[in-house]
Amino acid sequence: MVDKVYGIGVGPGDEELLTLKAIKILKEVDTIFVPISKEGKSSFAYNIIKNIADGKNIVELLFPMSKDREYLRKYWHNAYKTIKNSNGNVAIITIGDPTLYSTFSYVWNLLKEDNIPVEVINGIASPFACASRLNIPLVEGEENLVVLPQGKDLEKYLGLFDTIVVMKTKKLGEKLKSILDNEQRDKYLIGVVSKGFCRDEKIQMGKIDEINFDEVNEYLSLAIIKRIKE
Ligand SMILES: C[S@@+](CC[C@H](N)C(=O)[O-])C[C@H]1O[C@@H](n2cnc3c(N)ncnc32)[C@H](O)[C@@H]1O
Repeated sequence: MVDKVYGIGVGPGDEELLTLKAIKILKEVDTIFVPISKEGKSSFAYNIIKNIADGKNIVELLFPMSKDREYLRKYWHNAYKTIKNSNGNVAIITIGDPTLYSTFSYVWNLLKEDNIPVEVINGIASPFACASRLNIPLVEGEENLVVLPQGKDLEKYLGLFDTIVVMKTKKLGEKLKSILDNEQRDKYLIGVVSKGFCRDEKIQMGKIDEINFDEVNEYLSLAIIKRIKE
């Protein structure tokens, strides 16, 4: 049976943004579990650590892309059982930080319920990484911040928060244009990062009407919407 599980955040995509602690543990563990969304599909998280993990025992865990929690439960359970039945100290890697919208968190809960020791090693989360790519602070002074998965309930939050982070920007352009009229759109600055820190990274920043949302609607995309101060 496994001794200890490390949930390791590998950051947004640049090997140099891995923490020293992540590198140390990845080199020490007996097995590294790598999440994949489809059989045969390469893992974004693994590509970040592949130089460090050279020669290590790598085991893939399948987590299909789906919003159906009932369907996904089976995969979380399979992953938990595979990890439990492994030996020694092991790591499971996750993009960004493991505490932010990470599939790892479902496996983490199952391991905890089973009293299996788990230690989380933080990574640089995408909202922080994308703010630095856009060359803007996420929030300053007394400003407030909300993070929305896929822009859920955006209309409710637009007037309430100085900064809104939207994880996954698919349909974000349409959504913003249906909520805000021309005059209101001018009151916001928006930065969108698609595949931040990767070779095919795309970045756009400007007023809502200046953004070509079709160019930056990858799965790995994030928007930061800032209310312009009067
Ligand atoms: C399942 S969530 C995982 C978040 C991750 N745990 C984190 O801390 O950033 C996946 C979302 O993170 C965002 N994301 C992660 N890495 C990114 C990157 N390199 N560039 C842009 N967005 C990224 C995107 O919004 C993507 O849809």
